[in-house]
Amino acid sequence: MGSMSTQPAFLFDLDGVIVDTAKYHFWAWKRLAEGLGIGFDEEQNEQLKGVSRVESLNRILKWGDKTLCPDEFAEALDRKNRDYLSYVEQMQPDEILPGVSEFLSQCRALGIPVALGSASKNAPLILDRLGLRAQFDAVVDGNSTQRSKPDPEVFLLGARALGVAPDRCVVFEDAQAGIEAAHRAGMKAVGVGHASELSEAEVRIPGFLDLLPTALLERLS
Ligand code: BG6
Ligand code: MG
Repeated sequence: MGSMSTQPAFLFDLDGVIVDTAKYHFWAWKRLAEGLGIGFDEEQNEQLKGVSRVESLNRILKWGDKTLCPDEFAEALDRKNRDYLSYVEQMQPDEILPGVSEFLSQCRALGIPVALGSASKNAPLILDRLGLRAQFDAVVDGNSTQRSKPDPEVFLLGARALGVAPDRCVVFEDAQAGIEAAHRAGMKAVGVGHASELSEAEVRIPGFLDLLPTALLERLS
């Protein structure tokens, strides 16, 4: 890539920021956990947000004090993902969270580079279903990363793909693990939503409705 630019860039988490797939992950994990005889509530789910599929199952098994042999583990991951995809397949572009499409269009108009930084291996499928693929200059997801948030890998790869220095990047996240990942990458974090776990973010927003990129950059400066 060429030299790093000094303009700001935006990195977006997917699940819970662009679209409310966070609830589909919750439903699918809950069904899987309960099938294994492990209780699973919203508070535990909060701790899995931004965490990879494999790491999420490891945590659920630990909470339930259960172990699975490698075959069972792989089968459980597959079952959870099939259940999750049954919701995703029903998803329509009107499930894009309020104001997100407009915000992304404004970024384009202002020339702000935009990347996706998601732990999900389903990210390309979801972007296609929502018709949002063309809004992103780069997509980094669970298929191109080795380490789960709060490791900064996904956002550092996003910054590199955009050719922007990490300290010029702003990360939009709904999960504590993602905000920690942003900070470890040397980036600023915008917490999206109401969760108390977002208190570490530099700025918090309820969502993207009526939000202008310029106004947000002002709040961050
Ligand atoms: C993250 C979600 O975006 O992606 C997690 O917040 C999820 O809940 C993770 O486990 C991995 O997603 P997938 O689609 O690869 O199972
Ligand atoms: Mg998320």
